[in-house]
Amino acid sequence: MSVTPRAEIATLPAYKPGRNPADLAAELGLAGAMKLASNEVAFPPLPSVVAAVAEAATEMNRYPDNGAVHLTAALAERYGLDPGQLAVGCGSVSLCQQLLQAYAGPGDDVIFAWRSFEAYPLLVTVSGARPVMVPLKERFDHDLDAMAEAITDRTRVVFVCNPNNPTGTAIHREPLNAFLDRVPDHVLVVLDEAYREFVTDPDVPDALSMLDGRRNVCVLRTFSKAYGLAGLRVGYLAAADPAVAEAVRKTYVPFSVSTVAQVAAVASLAAEDELLARCKEVVAERERVIAALREIGVDVPDSQTNFVWLPLGEATMDFARTGEGRGIIVRPFAGDGARVTIGTPAENDAFLGLAAEVVQAGR
Ligand SMILES: Cc1ncc(COP(=O)(O)O)c(C=O)c1O
Repeated sequence: MSVTPRAEIATLPAYKPGRNPADLAAELGLAGAMKLASNEVAFPPLPSVVAAVAEAATEMNRYPDNGAVHLTAALAERYGLDPGQLAVGCGSVSLCQQLLQAYAGPGDDVIFAWRSFEAYPLLVTVSGARPVMVPLKERFDHDLDAMAEAITDRTRVVFVCNPNNPTGTAIHREPLNAFLDRVPDHVLVVLDEAYREFVTDPDVPDALSMLDGRRNVCVLRTFSKAYGLAGLRVGYLAAADPAVAEAVRKTYVPFSVSTVAQVAAVASLAAEDELLARCKEVVAERERVIAALREIGVDVPDSQTNFVWLPLGEATMDFARTGEGRGIIVRPFAGDGARVTIGTPAENDAFLGLAAEVVQAGR
């Protein structure tokens, strides 16, 4: 008899790495390839952050601070929260996993919209709970009424990705408040705001301002996107109820947020003005890209993130393959659409050229 994983793990697809831009460029004989697939920012790290990391690297013979005390204190001060309401994790995706480990298991349901962040169904399945996927509405908005109606006695957690990955669409304050009012106290609502810093619509609420009086709500944020630290893996959770943050801290993989990640996050908070100014450049490019795509007839929804969604349906994989052949790596979701990260102006121009060509060829 051979060893066998749990049945739900055996059914999961094996991890398939995306194309590495250096390898792709070498294969195509190009000077470089463009990675517009993972919603990173194209800017290099700030010199002040690199200096903090270089200094911290001299201590890599030591384990990191397991409680991320300095980073937690900096976040508490920045957002006017009690440190007990915070949990730091190895990227916010780890915090999703920790939340599920703490709150859901076999026999439980976890609700989220679909299509949404591709890790949700995988992480829910790993936890042993059942993913309950509620289709987005026609224009890619969350169907909050249907999500509220899907809640039962078995429901433990609801993820609300705002703005939504991969569609870029965002929920407004009023419907979100109405939804939260409908969610029973036994259900934890996780407001995943990985792209919060790119939001420009004033009607899209900052979830950290919605915690008061709602003990079953928590917010996920990350340093991977706007703060440019995707490679260091650090994110945080802010919970209305300190007991939620405590439960999440209990499921932390010990020492999984490195010293360099903690130090870089603290330095990034100190350089926040500079980093957020760069987000404005991304937003300006986002609007330029959306307008150009609409001009050539691609029905792109508004985006409040650093990426755009091309609902290409069955043409999606061909589009991604053609892009790859030109050294442009996007993120396709077969049969559905492609998510394309806003890059540098030159990268965006290259992507728009590709889109125009593919659209014209399809006419
Ligand atoms: C909606 C959403 N949540 C969470 C994450 C996880 O980000 P990280 O683990 O890098 O913090 C991502 C990353 O793409 C995301 O899109």
